[in-house]
Amino acid sequence: MEHPVEVLLDEHRLIERMLAEVETRVLNSGGKLPLDFVETALDFFAGFADGSHHHKEERVLFPMLEAAGMPVHGGPIAVMLHEHDMGRRCLAAVRNSLEAARTGSEPATSTIRAAFAEYTDLLRRHIWKEDNILFEMAKVQLSSEAQRSEMQRLFEEEAKATGLRVRYEAILNEVAGTAVY
Ligand SMILES: [Fe+2]
Ligand SMILES: [Fe+2]
Repeated sequence: MEHPVEVLLDEHRLIERMLAEVETRVLNSGGKLPLDFVETALDFFAGFADGSHHHKEERVLFPMLEAAGMPVHGGPIAVMLHEHDMGRRCLAAVRNSLEAARTGSEPATSTIRAAFAEYTDLLRRHIWKEDNILFEMAKVQLSSEAQRSEMQRLFEEEAKATGLRVRYEAILNEVAGTAVY
């Protein structure tokens, strides 16, 4: 059985596909903001990246790492939690400017572009650290059969309870096409 942390790695690939769409449609396109897309992307990041993915990290992976001896204050978990919070602040800035942007407000449009620029940069660096450092540590520190089964069970429970992965993967495919990479 592959390590259940692979579920989180796989979710990073989905999040990166939406980040790429934001870069193309919002950050690298001048002129009018595609506000319907902005709203869809905001919903994806809040509902899936933060709601489902960070939820699994914060309520399953990090506590299991803590139980295995990794400190929560200081060290990589504290950095990851702080970055999740910074991401939430970026999403709040987008959310709070949407209505004004719909009425054509220039400052609101700039705020949305700046917040998404910060968010994509933050998330890309965050995902890199998890992929290459924290999750590699997790595979070592949570390698026993019991730990892997427990993580698997909790992830499956979350998936069954929320259905978020299925719902948001469909939304992503609608927006970004079904190409898998
Ligand atoms: Fe994270
Ligand atoms: Fe993550």
